[in-house]
Amino acid sequence: MFFEIIFIVLSSLWLFLPAYLPNNFAVVFSGKIPIDFGKSFKGKRIFGDGKTWSGLIFGTFFAMLFGIIQMVFLLFFPIFPSFGTFENLNFLIVLFCLSFGSLFGDLIKSFFKRRLGYERGEKLPVLDQYDFVIGAFLFLFIFQRDWFLLNFYYGYKWIGIIAILILTPILHRVVNIIGYKKKYKKEPW
Ligand code: CTP
Ligand code: MG
Repeated sequence: MFFEIIFIVLSSLWLFLPAYLPNNFAVVFSGKIPIDFGKSFKGKRIFGDGKTWSGLIFGTFFAMLFGIIQMVFLLFFPIFPSFGTFENLNFLIVLFCLSFGSLFGDLIKSFFKRRLGYERGEKLPVLDQYDFVIGAFLFLFIFQRDWFLLNFYYGYKWIGIIAILILTPILHRVVNIIGYKKKYKKEPW
């Protein structure tokens, strides 16, 4: 049972990589055109300058590409579960849910941050750390429910969700400190 749980935890982190990565790609590939085109809503920016089209597009694209690389890796070393097979294109929808869902959650969070009067980059505990988890799981639950239940629910696999909820703030902190030290990010969170 112990090794089974370890395997479930590692598998869920592996499957969640395309949801973990987009924001980091968005930081690296962030551009100049804001998603809200600079427009405001009730006196505050809709999303703010921290949410750009190139961050959204390249963040989604490179995280999906990373997921495809993971699938190729699994062809040689089939040690973890996969996003699908290369026999049909369903894996692209799974990867899109993970990566775009992740950035979508981040975007919606920014919408609420602006409504609450938080400036771009200002820290909002809990939501800053779970926005993308909620977004990715929500997209999977809506558009890829079978894959989601099979990999994150049945047969004790729900432990993977608990593990992601516990480990994400820790990973988030570590990655952001690295990003900050490498001058990609303005703040260490
Ligand atoms: N980024 C981007 N496009 C996105 C998401 C992120 O260009 N869709 C880039 C921006 O340069 C952003 C950085 O990644 O500043 C860090 O992302 P995040 O922490 O999510 O944004 P914040 O700047 O903190 O803005 P907010 O307060 O709205 O969360
Ligand atoms: Mg931020």
